[in-house]
Formats: sequence, structure tokens, C-alpha cells
Amino acid sequence: MSVALIILGAGKGTRMNSELPKVVHPIAGAPMLVHAMRAGATLDPAHTVIVAGHGADTVTKVTHAYDDEAKIVLQNEQLGTGHAVLQAADALAGFEGKVIVMYGDTPFVKPETLEAMIAAKADVVVLGFEPADAGRYGRLVTNGASLERIVEFKDATDTERAITLCNSGVICCAAPLLFELLNKVTNDNASGEYYLTDVIGLARTAGHTATVVTCSEAETLGINSRAELAAADALFQAAARLALLDDGVTLVAPDTVYLSLDTLIGRDTIIEPNVVFGPDVTVESGATIRAFSHLEGCHVSRGSIVGPYARLRPGAELSENVRVGNFVEIKNATIAEGAKVNHLSYIGDASIGERSNIGAGTITCNYDGVMKHHTEIGADVFIGSNTMLVAPVTIGNRAMTGSGSVITSDVGPEALALSRAPQIEKPGMAQKLFDMLQAKKAGMSRSS
Ligand code: UD1
Ligand code: MG
Repeated sequence: MSVALIILGAGKGTRMNSELPKVVHPIAGAPMLVHAMRAGATLDPAHTVIVAGHGADTVTKVTHAYDDEAKIVLQNEQLGTGHAVLQAADALAGFEGKVIVMYGDTPFVKPETLEAMIAAKADVVVLGFEPADAGRYGRLVTNGASLERIVEFKDATDTERAITLCNSGVICCAAPLLFELLNKVTNDNASGEYYLTDVIGLARTAGHTATVVTCSEAETLGINSRAELAAADALFQAAARLALLDDGVTLVAPDTVYLSLDTLIGRDTIIEPNVVFGPDVTVESGATIRAFSHLEGCHVSRGSIVGPYARLRPGAELSENVRVGNFVEIKNATIAEGAKVNHLSYIGDASIGERSNIGAGTITCNYDGVMKHHTEIGADVFIGSNTMLVAPVTIGNRAMTGSGSVITSDVGPEALALSRAPQIEKPGMAQKLFDMLQAKKAGMSRSS
């Protein structure tokens, strides 16, 4: 059975107090909309339709960065959840499979919950939950296993408000039936909105079946403010850290490690305290990421040791048994097996060959103010401390550079390149200088 996803993300999110539309605010390095898309993607949907409104350009950009085949439909005026879903009708014309409607601001719905909804035997399936405080959620009016209708809090009687089973907003229904029912929904209610929730009562009246699948309150957590965004991120982090520990990763101080939605870390890797994993990081098994390192868009292979205080930026590719030490920044560079960049260096737009050693304070001068250039370092090279490698430049295998050199042209294999003023020595000169300076100091203190 093929499935389509409709994710609602047209709302402004006034309480976020932001220039950005709510659904693009990030949790664990990924827009909250992407969390919902990712859960939905596990159903292998034939279509994904995002309903955008406020900040539609930004929503489109974020959507397509994750899935360039997802369709964006516009809801120019936010006339209610039912109206929002109806905007997807044209995009799904001719589609006869099941539709799952999700909210872009509800990031934690689990794939297995969506699968249970697809598998449930009823024409319309609603995801319900029993919150600690039912507050202003829509209430699910049931009769045994049958869901009869959903009543919005504003429209509910006191008896209906006493119902504890609430609507999460996620709903599953065959596309033709969903749109047929939505076309009958009116805005004759306390909010003057077209409610998606009205399709349940309409379905039952027309003789269709409806039921509820339930999940925990944590899964349906919705985000409306920055405080809720931070709380949701904390929940995500707690769960992601536990998952890593279960997968055999050592987190020395789990609460201090920040993870992204897509962070992948192999077994027996050790993560020391205060490490930040930005988006798109993979670390293979048996690596060590030492304290206070910051990684994003990079790959660390088996047995490598990074940090403390290292920064790996997008395009940093570390092969096996590489060492990257303190105060080293690496960007868009491949470091081959066994190579070392141990102290105070910047390696950008470069490749470093096997077993090469990059001395302390080495800088690849990759930017000329207008363009970026590449530095190529061969295998078994020794770059002396404080070498400036002015790119584009190539250093051959087994070559050396003298410390303090500014290397502006290619160095052949096995050559030593030096570019610094020769050392001169003046015997006795230091003592003369000391005597002169001490006499001067004594004269100054007498006259004061
Ligand atoms: C909705 C449900 C309610 C449920 C609650 C769960 C309806 C009528 N009510 O209420 O039963 O308990 O969610 O959180 O569906 N949106 C649009 N366009 C619109 C309106 C909303 O895209 O015109 C989007 C919002 O951006 C949001 C989602 O739909 O992501 C839900 O809208 P919201 O206004 O928060 O609905 P609630 O009143 O909370
Ligand atoms: Mg809401």
C-alpha cells in the first residue's frame, strides 16, 4: 500500500517571537520540520507534501535541502487545519493510497507509531494520547474501539472536556476519502476555522469506520515557544545519548555531549566531556574524541584521536589512526592514514598524505582574499613548525620544510625547502645589551 505524507507548516508561530517560520527552528541541528519528515520517510512515502504559509521561501529551502522531491503547497491564509490539508489535494490528485497528516511543529512522533496507524483496520485512524493535563487539546469521543468524533476544546461541553483521551493531530485516511470529507467541512464553530478534526464525525455519519491508535505524551510534544524548543532539544539529547551508550559508545560525561539528529558514532569510540557534534558527522568505531572538540560535516575513521580542543569543519575527512591535536582547525581537507597534525594549526582545502607530520603552528594559506586554493602534501612529509604553505602549492613525498618557512612554490620529493633569513651570531653582544639596559634603568630610578 503506498503512502503519502502531508506535513502542516503554514503557521507563523507567534510565540517564537522570530523572523523565521516556526517549523524551521532547529532541534539537534535539524529544522523541526525535518524531524517530522524523517519519521515519515521511514514509511517510504510515494509523495511528501509540505503545506507552507508564513516564511514559505525559507520552509521551501529547508524542505528541499532534506528532500528535493518533496512538494510544497501554499496556504496563503491560515483558515484552519482542515483548510491546510485541503491545499494538498491538487498535489495528490489521482493518488489512491493512504495519507498521513502530521504537524511540522511536532517533531518526535515515532516511525513505529505511524506504522501502527497505517496497519490499523479502520477508514480513518487518529493518533490519540492521554496527557498529564488535557488543557486545550481536542477531545476524542469514543464508543468502545470506535472513534465517533473529535470535539475542539472551545466547542466542547463540560462533559466532553472531562474526556482525558486527546487528539495529537496526526491522522491517517485514504486520500480520496480524506479530500471528499474535507470538502464538506465548514467553519461553523467557536474559532471560525475549518477543522481537520471534523472529518471524523463526517466519516461516521457517512457509515465509514474510525478508530484511535495511542502513543505517549512525549511523542506528540508540540513546540510553541523558545522555552519549549530548548526543552524539546534537551529531551532529544537525553534520548540520543542513551541510545549511543546502548550502542556501545563511551560518553564519559553524557550530559555535556551535544548531538545532532544525524550524528553516527561507532562502537567502542570514546567521547570525552564537552564535545559538540554539529550536523553530518560520522565517527567510526574505536576512535577517541577528546574534551572540548567541535565537529561538523566531517568523518573520523577507526582509531583516530581528535582533540582536546580540536575543530573539524565541513569536508574534514580523517582516515584511520590520524592524530589531530589541540587548537587545530581542519576544513575541507583529507588526512591520510597515520598522519599527524598535533598542535595549533589550520589545514584548509588540503590533502595530507600517509604518515606525514605537520609541525606546530602550520597554516595552509588557502585564501588570497578572492579565491580559495588547494595545498597538496605527499606521504611521509615533515612540515617544520610554523610553516606557512601559500596555496596553491604541492609538497612531494618524503620532503621537508624548515620551521618558520613561507613556502610559495612547489617542493619536490625528498627535498628540503627553507625560506627564512639565515641565522647570524654576534659573540658577547647579549652581555653588552644587558649591561647597557641595566645602566639605563638604574639612571631612571635615581632621577625619580
Ligand atoms: C490542533 C487540533 C486539536 C489537537 C491539537 C494538538 C484541529 C482543529 N485541532 O489544535 O484537536 O488537540 O492540534 O496539538 O485540528 N496549521 C496550518 N494552517 C492552518 C492552521 C494550522 O498549517 O490554517 C498548522 C500549524 O502551523 C500547526 C498545526 O497546523 O503546526 C496545528 O495547528 P494549531 O493552530 O496549533 O492547532 P490547535 O489549535 O493546537
Ligand atoms: Mg497547537
